[in-house]
Amino acid sequence: MAKKGIALTGDRPTGKLHLGHYIGSIKQRVVLQDDYEQFVMVADMQALTHNAENTEKVRNSVLEVTLDNIAAGLDPTKTTFFIQSKIEGLAFLTAIFETLVTLGRLTQNPTVKTEMKEKGYGTNVPVGFLTHPISQAADILAFKPDIVPVGEDQLPMIEQTNEIAEKINRLYGNGKEIFKKVKASLPPGGEGARLPGIDGKAKMSKSLGNAIYLSDGVTDIEQKVMAMYTDPGHIHAQDPGKVEGNVVFTYLSIFDPNQNEVNELKKAYQKGGLGDVEIKKRLIGILNTLLDPIREKREYLAKKPEYILEVLKEGEKVAAARVNETAREVREAIGIQYY
Ligand code: TRP
Repeated sequence: MAKKGIALTGDRPTGKLHLGHYIGSIKQRVVLQDDYEQFVMVADMQALTHNAENTEKVRNSVLEVTLDNIAAGLDPTKTTFFIQSKIEGLAFLTAIFETLVTLGRLTQNPTVKTEMKEKGYGTNVPVGFLTHPISQAADILAFKPDIVPVGEDQLPMIEQTNEIAEKINRLYGNGKEIFKKVKASLPPGGEGARLPGIDGKAKMSKSLGNAIYLSDGVTDIEQKVMAMYTDPGHIHAQDPGKVEGNVVFTYLSIFDPNQNEVNELKKAYQKGGLGDVEIKKRLIGILNTLLDPIREKREYLAKKPEYILEVLKEGEKVAAARVNETAREVREAIGIQYY
């Protein structure tokens, strides 16, 4: 069947994937793989930019992240998985792109700014971390994708990628478009673009310790949902409660297949008479229904690391061919092909 185009995205291997990744990108990937030629990169170079002293964690997470993706429904016969560091052409493109971006522009990138603050770097930021948007632009443009399925926190990266594409075209295109503009594909229903943590903080993240993992067991789910932030003013079931900022309702709005019932529950909660335990139990059931098949597949595949490695190795060949083609095109456009 003719494909609609190319989709490219990636994950940093810094730990297991959580529901934020699922809603932000993985859920879309599962749909896209049928209509697009899809590449999923395990971005170990990017992970190393803030884990120079934790190489073991990065290394181990490469398998975990691939496992998470496959367990969540990505089919290696439809989606090409590969490890970023194995594709040397990406480093070449990164180095070329680095000649086109200023330090001022990088430090204005909101994703970089936020993460630098989170990590408390100040001027002690590793240069590789500061420049990772350039490397990400290379990851993306090398594949000439039509769409990039990402969460909204990645939009500044796409913007920076498109600036680089535009500059390459202008400086070296000779009237031709070497790179076309890439489009982010955000999760449907704006709210889901960023899943809050179980503590109510805006972002679910491993470092904040507020994540629900795709690999969490039934007991983990129960404990985490029971500990979820609701409305601190809603002490007794009969008290009127707030729905905004109430993580249980945010999750129900995203994951519950029956939104009519969720709307009724919201009304009942606001009016008073609906207890936290009741809505939490509902959410536990819904999350387990989503995660049961993922967990089962994950457990099965975890026993076959050699299969996962084979998937990555096969994917590398396809990805490398694609990247080399683009690298050659860029060399020629710049005039450094030589012979
Ligand atoms: N920056 C992305 C993240 O933190 C991971 C990533 C690396 C990526 N390279 C990419 C995403 C290319 C999309 C396209 O999740």
